[in-house]
Formats: sequence, structure tokens, C-alpha cells
Amino acid sequence: MTTAPQVDLTLSPRMTDPDWWRQAAVYQIYPRSFADSNGDGIGDLKGITAKVPYLQALGINAVWLSPFYPSALADGGYDVDDYRNVDPKLGTLADFDEMTAALHAAGIKLIADIVPNHSSDRHEWFKEALAAPKGSAARERYIFRDGKGENGELPPADWTSVFGGPAWERTTDADGTPGQWYMHIFAKEQPDLNWDNPEVREDFLKTLKFWSDRGVDGFRIDVAHALTKDLSEPLPSTAELGVEGQLLDGSHPFWDRDEVHGIYAEWRRLFNQYTPPRTAVAEAWVHASRRARYASPEGLGQAFNFDLLQADFDADAFRSIITKNLAEAEATGASSTWVFSNHDVVRHATRYGLPKALELAEATPTVAAPGADANSEEAKGQDGKAWLLAGGKPSDVDAELGLRRARAATALLLALPGSAYLYNGEELGLQEVGEIPESERQDPAFFRNPGVDIGRDGCRVPLPWTADGSSYGFGSDGAHLPQPEWFAGYAASAQDGVDGSTLEFYRSALALRTELQGAETLQWLPSAADVLHFTRPGGWHSVTNFGTTAVELPAGKVVLASAPLVDGKLPADTTAWLV
Ligand code: GLC
Ligand code: CA
Repeated sequence: MTTAPQVDLTLSPRMTDPDWWRQAAVYQIYPRSFADSNGDGIGDLKGITAKVPYLQALGINAVWLSPFYPSALADGGYDVDDYRNVDPKLGTLADFDEMTAALHAAGIKLIADIVPNHSSDRHEWFKEALAAPKGSAARERYIFRDGKGENGELPPADWTSVFGGPAWERTTDADGTPGQWYMHIFAKEQPDLNWDNPEVREDFLKTLKFWSDRGVDGFRIDVAHALTKDLSEPLPSTAELGVEGQLLDGSHPFWDRDEVHGIYAEWRRLFNQYTPPRTAVAEAWVHASRRARYASPEGLGQAFNFDLLQADFDADAFRSIITKNLAEAEATGASSTWVFSNHDVVRHATRYGLPKALELAEATPTVAAPGADANSEEAKGQDGKAWLLAGGKPSDVDAELGLRRARAATALLLALPGSAYLYNGEELGLQEVGEIPESERQDPAFFRNPGVDIGRDGCRVPLPWTADGSSYGFGSDGAHLPQPEWFAGYAASAQDGVDGSTLEFYRSALALRTELQGAETLQWLPSAADVLHFTRPGGWHSVTNFGTTAVELPAGKVVLASAPLVDGKLPADTTAWLV
């Protein structure tokens, strides 16, 4: 007989608070790369359960779990075969329940990743659609069209997928002759679902209910801005797509259409049937002026703002992004979201240490909607992918400077009102892994975009838990992506209890954040150029020196510093908190 996990009742008020998410520190786990419990080289749910004490000691409030559903991994799990099950390589539903209970007992909420824009091509529905004739109900769950040209040999439109290559794939009929085409905004293994079909809508409500009933506290909505589409004929050509105006007024045929909010209003009604209500955050790479719609209380409640993630380490850029986003959140009743790293981008400790000469000012993230905010001033930050693609070597990166700035930026981020999204491994100061041989890369963004995109494997390499041993403590027998030797120096065990280590710095910052966090407001205070100084209610001050020379600190007691002070002054690339 198993005993129920002990629930610490002192934690329960926060666990039942309907506003728990507003200023939560959310830690993203990429499950296949976090911890491997059975030595098959793939991280799994039991691995996560075993690390709950680590997560609790870290001081996070919630875990966002990237897809853990059955998947052939054509896109790192974002190709889902079955929305209401666990990938057998990662465990079972019972393991999921055990993990959820362990997290909850530790006072940690669970956010599940939901992928509604597309299923995988191995989903029962898609198999049925392929076997069914043209015009059948089974095909109506996806987006099938006849091809153009004399024999339908040309795609219905010349659109390219986000991962490169055509966004339409031709099928083969039962008798072996070439058939219709289906649409896929992402990889061809990710056919887009037809959200005009009530059956699709019903099924997702069932999925959201399934996980909510199992104790999931919130959802991260993948590509939330692509679900509804206007594919009436004639389909526009690529030349007519991505026109700025269409992205501003919601008239683009598949990105950010206004009707998508009807879906989220329906989801919100379901979420509100739970106590506390289930929460949601949209991944929506839309024009900043349209982001608030996703974050409204009648909709998902929160939307990622990727502005800081796309910005250079620069005081003016940070200040204007923060000011703009706080005003936006206040106007909609949402709370802000802040993020520097996730499973789609180069780790920020590396971005901030890229060789200056190789900075690529115009680079945009892989998954941004065409023409979306990626071209704004704030978006012109460093993107390490282009650098890696150009053959950039880890030895070219100023890892020390990168990490120093990353810690300063993180301390600033953790002092902001709103929720902070952290990505597993950043608390170890991990750098991007640039040296993955082509033969071991997994990301379709790499394979489908030869010479254009290096892909996202470099931030998905299994974590180093110990300085030695097979796969640095990730598991007992290897890791599904190669770990470089320098991982040893970043191991959690090597940082545990070590004064000044990045892990201890995150622990202190998160504990203090919980203690100091008050109302969701911030006040800027006058400061020297290249310095940002703000205060939060209750007298919590955060000062960041983006410049090159040390500056005087304001009066107060220093409770946290991202790097040691020098003669009582705040050195370059450093943040201090004072009370
Ligand atoms: C989102 C995910 C990304 C995935 C894509 C397609 O942008 O973050 O990892 O490849 O959606 O599902
Ligand atoms: Ca495993």
C-alpha cells in the first residue's frame, strides 16, 4: 500500500489562492532532458518526481511541463499522437498522478503544455483522415485541399512552413495514386487541425477537462494565435501574406485572427468551473498591440511577452519594454510575464556573451509569425542561432561575461511585478551547447532549413546534475543529446551549498522574491545613464548597472547582489536588491 504524500498545510492558502499565478515564478521543464529514472537516456516523469525536493529548495511556485504526450518526436513532443495520455517512454498516467501529487505536496503548481493548432500525423484522427475519401467527415478535422495544376500536382498555395519547405504536403490515396494536400504550418508530421469543426472544439474541451480533473492547475497554449483560419478561395500567395496591415487588423489568413478569441472564451468558462480556476498563458508571437486580447480575464488570462528575450542587454531597451508591458497588463487586468530563456531560443547566458563582431542585429526567433513584432526596435536583439550556424564555437563566447549579465538580468526580472518564467538549467548558469554534431541533431528546424537555421537542440541538452558519472547524473546510461565535457563545471552538485554559485544565487533570489513580493506595481527612480533603479511597494529596491564602470548604490541594506560589490559600489553588469 502506498501512503498519500504529506501535505504541508501551511502551504495550502497559497495553493488555493485564485490569484496564485499573478506573480508566480514558473520553472519550465523540458521533460526528455530533465532527469532520467530508468537509464534509457530519455528524461521521464519519475525523474521529475525524484527531483521535487530540488524544485522545492529552488523556491519556484509552479512547473510548466513541455509536452509529455505520446509522440514520435518529429518536433520535440510538439507533435502529439494522443492528447490524453503519457508517452510510454516518459511513463504512465499513474506516474503522472504521482508526480502531480508530489509537486502539490511541495506547494508547487503544475502547468501543462497544450498543442491545439496541430496534432501529429500519427494521431488516430489523421490516420483515419488519410484512409478516408476526399470530402469525408474524417478529412474535415484537418485542412485538406485539392492541388492546383492540371493534375493537382501543385500545392494549393505557395506558402512555406515555419520550419522551412512547403506548408502543404501531398497525400497518396488508397489505390496508390497521388491525392489531396494537407496544410501544416510547422513540420509535415504536424498537420493543422480544422478549428471550424465543432468536433475538434469538443475534443479539446474534453482534453482540458481530462487534465484539469487530474489536478493540472494551468495550461500553456502552444501557438495560440494560429488556430482559426480563413482559407476561402482564392488562397493568397506568399507575396500577399505577412503584410503588416493584416497582422495589425487580424485579417491574415492564419495568424492572429480575431475569431480565435471565441475559442478561448469557451475555454475560460471551463477553467472557471474549477476551484481555484485553471489558469492559462498564451504563446502568441503577435504584434504587441494585439497581445492583450489573449491575456484578457475573459480569455486565457496571460500571454507571453517575449520582448526582453529579444532585447539586447541595454538599460534603455529594458526600461521601455518594462514600462510598456506593465501599462498593458494594468489596462487588461492580466499580470505581466517575463522570460529570457525557453526551449526555443539560445540560452541567455550565451546570448549575452556572443562575440560583438558576430552580433546579428536583424536576427529573429525561429517561431515568430512572419512580420510580427520581430521587426520592432526591441526585437533586434542578439540571436545566437545565426552565430552558431555560421560555425560559432563555444570558445568564441565570452561565457563569463554572458553569465554575469544573465545573472544581473535575472535578478532584475525576478524583481519585476508579474510572473517570471525560468527555463530548466538556467539556474545552473548553463550555456548553449554549440558543438552538437549534425548526425546527432534532432530538431526539424535544423533539418528542414539546411544552412538557414541551426535549430534548438543546443538548449535542450540533458541537464548536468553531478560533475561526473554517466551523463553527469542525468541518468545511469547516457543522454539522448550529447553533453559536452564542460558540463561538469555547471553540475548542480558542484554548486549546491557553494557561496556565490549560480544555483545558490537563484535560490536566494527566489526566496527573497517570495518574501518581498507585494502589489503589482513598480516605480522608477532617477538613476545615472546605463543604470536602472526601481522600487516595489514595501521598500524593495532593484538597481542594475548596464554600464562599464561601478556606480554608487542608493541608501539601504543590500540583500542580494548578482556579483560581489566592489568597495561598496555596484560594478558593471550587476544587479543588487536593497531594502
Ligand atoms: C511552439 C513551441 C515550439 C514548437 C512549435 C510548434 O512555438 O514552443 O517548440 O516547435 O510551437 O508546435
Ligand atoms: Ca527514461
